Amino acid sequence: MTTSKLLIRPQKTALKGTISVPGDKSISHRAIMLGALADGTSTVRNWLPAGDTIATLNAFQALGVVIEVDRHSATAWNLVIEGRGLHGLKDPRKALDCRNAGTLMRLIAGIMAGQSFASVLDGSEQLRKRPMRRITEPLKQMGAKISAKDGKAPLSIQPADLKGVAYEMQVASGQIKSALLLAGLYAAGETRIYQPGPARDHTERMLNAVGVEVRTEGDWIIMPAAAGERKLKAFDLTVPGDMSSAAFPLVAAAIVPHSEVTITNVGYNDTRTGILEMLQQMGAEFTIANERVTGGEPAVDLTFRFNELHSADIGGEVVVRGIDEFPILTVAATQAAGTTTVRDAAELRVKEVDRISVLAGELAKMNIDMVERPDGYTLHGPKRPFSAEVDSHDDHRLGMALAVMGLVTYGETLIDNARCIHDSFPGFVEIMQSLGANMEWVEQ
Ligand code: S3P
Repeated sequence: MTTSKLLIRPQKTALKGTISVPGDKSISHRAIMLGALADGTSTVRNWLPAGDTIATLNAFQALGVVIEVDRHSATAWNLVIEGRGLHGLKDPRKALDCRNAGTLMRLIAGIMAGQSFASVLDGSEQLRKRPMRRITEPLKQMGAKISAKDGKAPLSIQPADLKGVAYEMQVASGQIKSALLLAGLYAAGETRIYQPGPARDHTERMLNAVGVEVRTEGDWIIMPAAAGERKLKAFDLTVPGDMSSAAFPLVAAAIVPHSEVTITNVGYNDTRTGILEMLQQMGAEFTIANERVTGGEPAVDLTFRFNELHSADIGGEVVVRGIDEFPILTVAATQAAGTTTVRDAAELRVKEVDRISVLAGELAKMNIDMVERPDGYTLHGPKRPFSAEVDSHDDHRLGMALAVMGLVTYGETLIDNARCIHDSFPGFVEIMQSLGANMEWVEQ
């Protein structure tokens, strides 16, 4: 993919078909990390080959982990990871490049804090703007030696002896929780984390699967002290499809008249299903079939049909369970009758970009009026957007949300800097085209 502009024409025909989406990004990051720290050889199928996760693959290769990569297809790789054990990583002797991947930087910081060598974590200009104090402060409470100017990357980590901590997270975050649990693998004593809401629990599930006890007591997550030397078991995992990617074609089906789209094998972990509940609140019509378990995670087939949507009042615990889906949920809200209100979503302001103000700015170019509030926004619908040239601001999910928006506009939509879509969803355009969507990469 060399072009970076995406052209979308108004969709005159229904979207139809059965597809699958690439593997879950959160699980793909964690599979490399835990595979690298395990004793023995792990196998990962349907691993997501996206910009963010390839940064994780490269970082662990730089740490001396041998990973055999079978580029099975452009959207799914199979990996064989030769685990080096908890204490077998090698000094990379250069900064680890986390590119745009916040999950990589925050989670690997927990692992690096427990190593016997120093490390530097760096990334793109975009990542250097994101808040890191949320992990450096609690890691320091565990004894980690981390320095970061103004709480931002690059992070410089020195070897240190870690101890367990009882830490109360101020925001419900899968990344903070995971950084502390991964550091906890190296800590003497028990690690306890209070979470004020149901943040994604893939790390807890995967740690349990590799033989490390992590349990939940009310709002506390507890990793008891190790009885002896900790060891992680190697594993065999098939990654389910990413709900956060599925959300784009599903919302497209919900808003393009007469559409019907089925996505098979979508991860259905209940810390990730907020988007389905929010769309249900808006009157979306969908069915869920074939619930099963893959890689310790539930997965289902989802079928969405076009339906007239109505507005919703969104807030509370559902927000964290659908936090990455707000860009595409907002697109649904523009097509819903009435006033949609989003609250309790201040975390959107510290994602790849400030997803409230940047989205409001891009939607304004399409004549959609999204009224910002500190922790959310209000939007009146339904409204057909105007043709416009918009910008992803190098945020994959904004790029894809604007692409879906383009399907219901009066004229053509051109999205600048759209190549970042590859950060989480390789093959997005091709998969949308297979459903009949009128979008294409253009050379400009
Ligand atoms: C992620 C956690 C979420 C999410 C991000 C992936 C993870 O971030 O937005 O895309 O894999 O743990 P926060 O933990 O900052 O909410």
